[in-house]
Amino acid sequence: MKAYRASILWFASHSEGPARALFEADGMLVVGPNAAGTQVVQAVGAWRDVVGQYPGVAVEHLTGRIIAPGFVDLHVHYPQTNVIGSPADGLLPWLENYTFPEEKRFVDPEYSAQAAMFFIAELLRNGVTTALAFATSHPESVNALFAQAQAQSLRLITGLCLMDRNAPPELLNQSSASGRVDATEQSLLGSEALIRRWHGQDRLGYAITPRFAPSCTDAQLRGAGELAAKYPDVWIQSHVAENKDEVAWARELFPQSRSYLATYGDFGLMRKRAIYAHCIHFDDDDRALMRDTGAAAAISPTSNLFLGSGFFDYAGADRVGFQYGLASDVGAGTSFSPFHTMLGAYYVGREGQTKQGLSLSPQQLWWQHTAGAARALGLDGASGAPSVGNLLPGCEADFVVLNPQVTPLLARKTAIAANLDELLFAMIVLGDDRLIERTVISQGI
Ligand code: GUN
Ligand code: ZN
Repeated sequence: MKAYRASILWFASHSEGPARALFEADGMLVVGPNAAGTQVVQAVGAWRDVVGQYPGVAVEHLTGRIIAPGFVDLHVHYPQTNVIGSPADGLLPWLENYTFPEEKRFVDPEYSAQAAMFFIAELLRNGVTTALAFATSHPESVNALFAQAQAQSLRLITGLCLMDRNAPPELLNQSSASGRVDATEQSLLGSEALIRRWHGQDRLGYAITPRFAPSCTDAQLRGAGELAAKYPDVWIQSHVAENKDEVAWARELFPQSRSYLATYGDFGLMRKRAIYAHCIHFDDDDRALMRDTGAAAAISPTSNLFLGSGFFDYAGADRVGFQYGLASDVGAGTSFSPFHTMLGAYYVGREGQTKQGLSLSPQQLWWQHTAGAARALGLDGASGAPSVGNLLPGCEADFVVLNPQVTPLLARKTAIAANLDELLFAMIVLGDDRLIERTVISQGI
């Protein structure tokens, strides 16, 4: 058992979204093992209320620091660390000219291992303690990321990227060495083998990962849907409705579906634990399909602004009522920092405001990158699932220690914050990896 004395930020519940943030200027967080041996939050609240319940507990005093839930990145590509900041005339040329060439290198297990190590270090430096990540279409890349995440006890979900058409040959899923199994079938057999090897090991989870409908044949999407039915507690991740050229292409390739999003539904790929990146060019039928199936959107504002993809329609999502959370989408996204992503989301909300009267509060932004994103992943403690992205008792003890004095401007600005909104806004607007003094990961599963 260990306790921390600091200012503490957390949320009243996972399910009461959007945000109801709680803040104790002089708070106490108590962490200790649960019955299964996992380090979880035992108590959180005002110092004066909690301290008497834990006589003799070792306390670390973090004067002037803020403890907050570890961030949850709902969509990020580990093989695209080197691709950050590659300008292109929209999504499809960006994939062709920068992303696919870099992803080819992940056929090499050593290249994958060093990239995975760097990527995980970068997540932790930025306070990200749970990530749903893309790998490449090479099983080596998936094994490398899982192995590194396991070594660091990071809660990480990834899977083999499914691509059996419309990409360079080196990135298409490979057929079996004997040539008796074709690439499509081998990609599905390979996914299943990886599910059996990694899903549910320590803090790791598997995601069935069709890259996006244009990179997959009907047979591959059908097989992915069958796998999803066979393994209902694995995740699904893909991209949808990011860019107008991409939408038009997907409509040409799958004319029998009502919309691009509906293509995934038609192949059994929409359900709880299915996370679709972007979800920009939607109509209300698409939004209703998200709501009715329990799928969730990963909103990636820095990526959408960088590639000129468009603006996520927050008002539309809330009007119809589907779940969403924030994501870096590195390498189209420009930063691993959740502060940059939250600021990008704020700009996107302001763009929406001119049309729909929307402005996101700092608590909403923070919730979307912590408890809200955890809820979108089904990691909110419901039905016996683990709970992350919050600091309520029972949540896994993943948290960040923020130092609001770390730069002269942050110190100056946070010192005059008159309320929680002003404090959180100062950190969202001025914060980056320097603000994260320490990232603490739950141990001992
Ligand atoms: N759509 C298909 N693949 C990708 C990718 O790697 N990044 C983004 N932003 N969109 C995609
Ligand atoms: Zn992406």
